Amino acid sequence: MDKMAVIGGVALKGEVKASGAKNSALPLIFSTLLCEGTHQLKNVPNLMDIGSANRLMESLGCKVDFANGELTIDVPQQLETLAHYDQVRKMRASILVLGPLLARFGKAKVSLPGGCAIGARPIGFHLDALEKMGAKIKVEGGYVIAECEKLKGSKIEFPFASVGGTENIMMAASLAEGVTEIHNAAREPEIEDLANYLKKLGAKVEGAGSSVVKVTGSTQLRASQHSVIPDRIEVGTLVAAGAMTGGQVKVLDCRPQDLGAFLEALKKIGFQITTTEDSIEVCCGQDLRPLDIVTEPHPGFPTDLQAQMMALLTQVDGTSHISETVFENRFMHISELARLGAHIEVDGNTATIHGSQAPLLGAPVMATDLRASACLVLAGLVAQGETIVNRIYHLDRGYEKLEDKLSKLGANIRRIKNEG
Ligand code: UD1
Repeated sequence: MDKMAVIGGVALKGEVKASGAKNSALPLIFSTLLCEGTHQLKNVPNLMDIGSANRLMESLGCKVDFANGELTIDVPQQLETLAHYDQVRKMRASILVLGPLLARFGKAKVSLPGGCAIGARPIGFHLDALEKMGAKIKVEGGYVIAECEKLKGSKIEFPFASVGGTENIMMAASLAEGVTEIHNAAREPEIEDLANYLKKLGAKVEGAGSSVVKVTGSTQLRASQHSVIPDRIEVGTLVAAGAMTGGQVKVLDCRPQDLGAFLEALKKIGFQITTTEDSIEVCCGQDLRPLDIVTEPHPGFPTDLQAQMMALLTQVDGTSHISETVFENRFMHISELARLGAHIEVDGNTATIHGSQAPLLGAPVMATDLRASACLVLAGLVAQGETIVNRIYHLDRGYEKLEDKLSKLGANIRRIKNEG
């Protein structure tokens, strides 16, 4: 397994471009299952998760061609409706094939994606909603087995604004009979991006980005083209890197409006943030102040930037708090940050960060999940001496060439290839 070696102490400076959003590209890829033809997606990041999605699509019978950020998916008239454990287990988002396959072919058998390090992450909301739309569903031998005559538009009320749940149902509803109303829908920018592609395919989608999304199904969807929105989580990570190293970093090709709560938090701490329509520049601040943060569904502070923000707050004098309300077990980076010398206490879902008590000192640490890996790389950028981040395959799942981007900004970072 590859490792990342980081020697801290450099204030990052310069410009860097954002990649396309993993969390948008994945549902967009799976949405192509809704109709036959040649779909073209642009600005697709080259990531391990995208590779996993492409292999899953191939296993279902699609022809996939991916080069230079352009992904062409040829979807045939007939598809396999079985998504195997081997394809699904690598990535929870694979459950998003369920809605499109079921809506189009009236049956689907999809392996349960299982838990994951950051929490149980069940799929009950997805299944309850599909049942409400007329599907018969059973879970047997680790597989979700779903059947229906024709899905029917329905009123769905999610108990929690689930991103994946909203996406699965929006896709299924695009081929369902009549109108589906999703209440307490997730409002993440990736939902709007998916809605925009579903509209290009021919579905009628209203209200995406608000908490009520209305989808009118169509029987005549047609393959189309789309460019994936920038990755707000990657952008936030790069901005955090610039801020906490006391540097000056400008991220280009991004959408500042997708990072409202995160940028507000940085401003409250005391960093200078300048935005244009498609760039964000962060400048080292003076008199930095600690902050209390609560993660929430969009437009609240994103859980996917919680770990990175914690690394940043270790550098801010005083006591900060972070409460994690989206996932129940997303504090695994804390014990690793402690190995670098950070002073953080946990009580339930709240972490208390005693910032800047002593400088962080480089040490070997272990990445436990995608965003925790990013947090440890950021901590390495400010730690004295060398930090070795082990198991960075987690990082490779969701960050495109992070070490190249950080190197370009002046960071002393290198990948140690696994020779074994
Ligand atoms: C997506 C993102 C992930 C992000 C998360 C929250 C993708 C590929 N992944 O994950 O990066 O951290 O949104 O912003 O887009 N829940 C249930 N039952 C369900 C579904 C969800 O209890 O059927 C719970 C989950 O356990 C979790 C919460 O709802 O506690 C939010 O999950 P959800 O929004 O569905 O996250 P994902 O779509 O898995």
